[in-house]
Amino acid sequence: MRNGSASASALVFDEDDGEELTETLVDASGTTHEVVYRFHGPREYVAHPLDDTHQSLVVSAPVKIDGKAVDASTAPIVLANAVGAYMPSTVETAVGVGQNQLQLPGIGPAPGRRGDTGPVNGLVNLAKLALVAGYVVVEPGARGRSLVDASGNRYGTAPAAIVDLKAAVRYIRFNADRIPGNTEWIVSTGTSAGGALSALLGASGDSSLYDDHLDKIGAADASDAIFATAAWCPITDLEHADAAYEWNWGDNVTQPGGTPVDPTVSADLKSQFTEYQAGLQLDGLDGFGPLTADNYAQYLLETYLQPSATKHLKALSDADRAVYLAKNTFISWDDGRATFAWDDYLSHVGARKKPAPAFDAFDASTPENDEFGTATTGARHFTAYSATRSTAASPATSIDGDIPTLLRLMNPMHFISEKNPHRSRHWWIRLGANDTDTSLTVSANLAAAVHNIGDDVDHAYYWDQGHATNIDPNDFIAWIGEITG
Ligand code: DHB
Repeated sequence: MRNGSASASALVFDEDDGEELTETLVDASGTTHEVVYRFHGPREYVAHPLDDTHQSLVVSAPVKIDGKAVDASTAPIVLANAVGAYMPSTVETAVGVGQNQLQLPGIGPAPGRRGDTGPVNGLVNLAKLALVAGYVVVEPGARGRSLVDASGNRYGTAPAAIVDLKAAVRYIRFNADRIPGNTEWIVSTGTSAGGALSALLGASGDSSLYDDHLDKIGAADASDAIFATAAWCPITDLEHADAAYEWNWGDNVTQPGGTPVDPTVSADLKSQFTEYQAGLQLDGLDGFGPLTADNYAQYLLETYLQPSATKHLKALSDADRAVYLAKNTFISWDDGRATFAWDDYLSHVGARKKPAPAFDAFDASTPENDEFGTATTGARHFTAYSATRSTAASPATSIDGDIPTLLRLMNPMHFISEKNPHRSRHWWIRLGANDTDTSLTVSANLAAAVHNIGDDVDHAYYWDQGHATNIDPNDFIAWIGEITG
């Protein structure tokens, strides 16, 4: 055992500490149900928490749905993180399912972000949807980049959030006989930064690279591999995201505020993408062949964007479709299929959301710069390109020596290219087709990478939807049933 017996016993899940709650919940297809469930309030998932506000989880298990007894003892376990923007999340105040709270700067606790909490933003509450579907739900809090201890040290920057999510998985497995549900069927969910962490959790299962970090916080001595991974708009592959962004959105030179991006910077980064994409040596889905910067637009059109528009248009009434097509003349509609050109699609999406570089800003002002800060420093650069062009307060000229290790710990692509044998084998990936928070290639590369090594992947784009949207939760809930059936 990695933990001494005293600390290991601190990790025993007390099944008796819980209460039966009744809630009226709406399922993923919109039908209302009365759900009786057992709720186990906040408990620490590590023996030496740095912070029990964030390193705690809650468990909800269905007992009766519409008066019918449910046996959740072998049900899949949905691990729904609420992380957004690499900020902390907490279940400290949760008194029922689906109350995991993201903590946003300047706003404080914000229920309703990341698809895992309340109705704010119109996002679906995956924790509640999973419970009403008869699944066990575990909601973990996790440290995030804004946390500072009493001595002024930052303790939530990379890799804290992924270490915490791994510790939560280890806790669930350590308590396999005490926590309801089948610990071989852990399905992780998350959106945006939370989607990135979900993908990383799935890709990096049981990697020894995190052992020291996990030991330090007293994580249980158990596997942190998970069965399936769901990620909505994952903001991941951060060290290549600036290049990918310029490849995707770089022709749109207007950045927020109306000022144009520096064309030299955009072109430099775009050319980095050509090299990066070639180096990945990925084949596209559906027999597309090697993916390159030159054919990627065609790949996205054929594999994702046109099918996504087709699905959207097919679901409309004839009259509504005619109105839509009259407004969007760039779309050809023949034989029930939508086709269009890449440049027209880009114009349809409109202005880019981020400046250039999008992630490693020259003034180190992005959430990602902050995420790569240390205990005692503020935001840092994590790409050589931006470090050498830094305009930050105390400009760096190169990235710090520990940055490559942090990038390794934060990027699922590395674990996938190594074919980590303990990765999850089932992947659900979704992205709004209008989401310009990152390049469309980020999730498409993730999907291609896992597909190329034999995993089961279901990736689709939501037509005309923006960042952090989820318009097919019903299909996701059904997918969990299929992969565990
Ligand atoms: C999120 C969005 C971003 O644009 C980003 O760079 C990081 C995180 C988010 O919504 O979680």
